[in-house]
Amino acid sequence: MGQILLTGGAGYIGSHTYVELVAAGHEVVIVDNFSNARRDVIDRLETITDAPVTFHVGDVLDKAFLADVFARHDFDAVIHFAAKKAVGESVEKPLAYFETNCTGFSNLLMAMQDAGVFRVVFSSTATVYGEPVALPYTEDHRIAPVSPYAQSKVICETLLEQLKASDDRWSYGVLRYFNPAGAHDSALIGEDPNDIPNNLMPYIAKVATGELPHLNVFGDDYDTPDGTGVRDYIHVVDLAQGHVQSVGKLLDHDDTHVLNLGTGTGYSVFDMLRSYERACGKPLPYEIAPRRAGDIDCFFADPATARDYLGFEATRSLDDMCQSSWNWVSRLRNS
Ligand code: WQD
Repeated sequence: MGQILLTGGAGYIGSHTYVELVAAGHEVVIVDNFSNARRDVIDRLETITDAPVTFHVGDVLDKAFLADVFARHDFDAVIHFAAKKAVGESVEKPLAYFETNCTGFSNLLMAMQDAGVFRVVFSSTATVYGEPVALPYTEDHRIAPVSPYAQSKVICETLLEQLKASDDRWSYGVLRYFNPAGAHDSALIGEDPNDIPNNLMPYIAKVATGELPHLNVFGDDYDTPDGTGVRDYIHVVDLAQGHVQSVGKLLDHDDTHVLNLGTGTGYSVFDMLRSYERACGKPLPYEIAPRRAGDIDCFFADPATARDYLGFEATRSLDDMCQSSWNWVSRLRNS
């Protein structure tokens, strides 16, 4: 077991990873600026884990804050979630994305180096692959980022490669996420977007709770079985468990790896809508809308490398994702 720092650990994937790391016996510390997380998530994490949560409020752009955190603890590894992640927003605000995602990560790596901590798991994304040359995406697929968000993630991956080439004390795990969805079985943590959600499941969830009038289906003329976009949705708890396995490889073997974390199965917008109707027990209104700029017909993962290297298997179904999401948003609305 080790002492692990989670940057952005109060966020959607970070908080679920916190729970799985504690369950696996690790000591975990969270840093977060709470720009995209509610402060009471800490209380809910303490309820789930039945133990106090050690956390520090601050920003990865604050070098003095990072130095202070590393002076207070003796970390064995870091899992880095703290980043901006909305593709559309990144097109409007590229500088903010490169500052937080690239400068922030560079600050973290320098603080790690100064503290003698050389193991890091990095939260990346399947959008580094861009327009598919072939599907399913394998880890050696061409890297062709389109949005500033995806480009910022490619820069961070390249930084890790070059850092390790310059100093072999470093080992890292790059995890390229497909489409995270769902919530913790306790319904105490889940996706909690501040405003109108960009992503499909949190949008459908707000239609199901009545906060939004209907779903806009962004195009039904794609080259897919029912004409709507197809994606590889992965349950956030499966994703969190993949992080536990990845950091375990670093702690036990200092073994660097780059992996897709997906299920290998694609589902359409209508598949998700029908699944959510089963979860909430009522029909959900939708309208066909124009395609969204930048969207592609279909993408999904080849999960073989993560399976063979980590023993990673995503076990939770689309219905599990929708049911856990509905349980979470229902509790949130009634709390
Ligand atoms: C999924 C499908 C839409 C909303 C993004 C990022 C990616 C990753 C996951 C961070 C598409 C359709 C959506 C809606 C719709 N994030 N849709 N109506 O775009 O595949 O991936 O989130 O790592 O980096 O690019 O996910 O959930 O936005 O869209 O019809 O209101 O649902 O067209 O086919 P996406 P998404």
